[in-house]
Amino acid sequence: MSSHNDNTIDKEAPSSDTVTLSAGHSSRSSLKIWLDGEFVDHEKAAISVFDHGLLYGDGCFEGIRIYNNRIFKLRTHLERMFRSAELLRLQSPYTIDEIESACREAVAVNQVSNGYIRLVFTRGVGGLGLNPFLCEKPTVFIIADSIQLYPAEMYETGLRVVMAERRRFPINCLDPSIKSLNYLNNIMAKVEAIDQGVLEAIMLNSDGHISEGTGDNIFIIKDKSIYTPSTEAGILHGITRQFVMEELAPAIGITVEEKMMYPQHILEADEVFLTGTACEIIGVTHLDDQEIGTGQVGQVTKALEAEFRKRVEKNAPED
Ligand SMILES: Cc1ncc(COP(=O)(O)O)c(C=O)c1O
Repeated sequence: MSSHNDNTIDKEAPSSDTVTLSAGHSSRSSLKIWLDGEFVDHEKAAISVFDHGLLYGDGCFEGIRIYNNRIFKLRTHLERMFRSAELLRLQSPYTIDEIESACREAVAVNQVSNGYIRLVFTRGVGGLGLNPFLCEKPTVFIIADSIQLYPAEMYETGLRVVMAERRRFPINCLDPSIKSLNYLNNIMAKVEAIDQGVLEAIMLNSDGHISEGTGDNIFIIKDKSIYTPSTEAGILHGITRQFVMEELAPAIGITVEEKMMYPQHILEADEVFLTGTACEIIGVTHLDDQEIGTGQVGQVTKALEAEFRKRVEKNAPED
């Protein structure tokens, strides 16, 4: 069953998008995974059922894009990865430089010139108790493949989102700035979106402020100014978010202000867009069936998308 033209999805049957996404990974039979220092055929790349990454979601990860043989913001992603690990008191068995070389090797071995890297540290193999320090050593793996979060046509028509009932973890419970393997908070909000026939949900923090999407940051445009929730709202400090704030918005002559916002700010906005490594930049046209601005992807969003494309497709920064 295909998705509706108005970009909602069919709840009864998988949409074409769900089919694409459920395939999820490349069908390339030659895909090789970097696993604990070695390349392994993807069918054979396996980790133990006693790995705490599986048993408890104990670990952290990064998603990184490759554009024209350049790994976009690789070093910034690796720094965030090592910060996440440190905050989880998980000691990588490899240095940051070794992980960087391994990512480059995984891309080269799989001949990915445009695609996506998933880098994962799990706590490693342990017993059935929670104690992370009884685990042998972290498992590390790198998948160099591809990703498509939303169907291509939604970048033209815009994305419909809902406001999730489920709130984002508070910073003092599990800080959303840690990109941990424990994504159930986001997944349950994503399920709310899918149940309502759309592909993304916006999450509020426990104080009712807008935090972020389930896998992306949010930006709001009002009267030619751009706003995004402050990091105190409890968000992943997105690398695409930072790129928009520091490079793309200034390039089109607009500054971005971080502030605490409420759902009303979305409904009164001229434009809204989401950013993330996987979704890149995508305009949002509706929140809970209410139109945002003109109900179409706005001009500022389009200008930022164009600037983004220009900068990533030619000599994407790797720092
Ligand atoms: C919860 C969440 N917020 C925001 C983002 C966007 O971050 P980035 O631009 O670094 O990919 C992601 C994706 O990594 C995410 O999972």
